[in-house]
Amino acid sequence: MAVVSSLKIYPCSSLTKEKEREKLLENPGFGKVFSDHMALILWSETRGWHNAQITERKPFQLDPASAVLHYAQEIFEGLKAYRAKDGRLLLFRPEQNARRFSRSAQRMAMPVIPEELFLNAIKELVKIDKEWIPDGEDASLYLRPFMFAKEAFLGVRPAKEYIFCVIASPVGSYFKGGGESIILWVEKYLSRAVPGGTATAKCGGNYAASLKAQALAREKGCDQVVFLDIIKRHQVEEIGGMNIFFSLDNNALITPPLNGAILPGITRSSILILAKDAGFKTEERGYSFEEWERDAVSGRLKEVFACGTAAVITNISHVRHEVGEFSIGDGKLGPVAQQLRQKLIGIQRGILHDPYSWVQRID
Ligand code: PLP
Ligand code: COI
Repeated sequence: MAVVSSLKIYPCSSLTKEKEREKLLENPGFGKVFSDHMALILWSETRGWHNAQITERKPFQLDPASAVLHYAQEIFEGLKAYRAKDGRLLLFRPEQNARRFSRSAQRMAMPVIPEELFLNAIKELVKIDKEWIPDGEDASLYLRPFMFAKEAFLGVRPAKEYIFCVIASPVGSYFKGGGESIILWVEKYLSRAVPGGTATAKCGGNYAASLKAQALAREKGCDQVVFLDIIKRHQVEEIGGMNIFFSLDNNALITPPLNGAILPGITRSSILILAKDAGFKTEERGYSFEEWERDAVSGRLKEVFACGTAAVITNISHVRHEVGEFSIGDGKLGPVAQQLRQKLIGIQRGILHDPYSWVQRID
């Protein structure tokens, strides 16, 4: 089978007019505005990866029996492209997204896309749609690579045909109003995913399973839901679309371990490295909800923050649960989170020196 690594470019027949695009980029919000193109690559058992192309963004034509619509064989990734002040186009650790995508594919019995092809699809899309990268401190072009089972077949087995696609969405902050601070709802009954199940894969089904708890959180006046371990409902795991960190008064920075129950976040891994190098005592260990409440009440706990590609680093100021609530800090991003955020954003956006070679330049 021939190995495909480059994409054929088919420019749009009609691009969004400059004035209209500028208007859309003024205040794009998150995930509502989309660029002109998409990357598309097909896979079949007989042909392998083929028809790699950049084309105009348009709806798919799907057979109603397509396996994804019935058995949810779907995975995705999320990463951002930034325009540095000097005009360079930058990606942050995209090879990590490629590797996590491969692991997700393996877990979901889907074909693995070669890392080079995954990265080329992203880079070609950013190049052709670079005018869609918004300006502004929190602004970027959010890239969403995804893959789903296209084969029309109702038997339950891995499909024999897939579509891989990348779309791009100019974004500002994930949380409305810049998301100075968020309020969390502690979910005691519902789980999003389980160890041995699909917890470590970035598959759509995990997010579908989290929506009821997220809706409940909203009803309770909270912004996001935090999930606890499925056995004892003690250990803190992760937020619906973010990992979580706890900063204590003894210079310790704690985050739940990668024990098969959570998504191994790329932001999480970057923060652990930045924090260690900045002299913090980083600990990947279980942290129970009881410990969290006790440390918050005693004042030992100084800061809690969420992290992820979409959320970057977002302060958690308040926690609500079945029988009470408590606060942490003064409602603003604390000094530890601020220091780490500045360093992370600085590297991502090409403002600070990148000693880790995390940033990849496009072109
Ligand atoms: N946990 C979940 C469930 C997520 O959806 C995300 C977002 O992708 C993360 C954690 C953070 O991962 P990353 O930092 O790679 O974006
Ligand atoms: C991301 O951070 O990229 C995610 O996929 C999470 C989602 C909440 C947008």
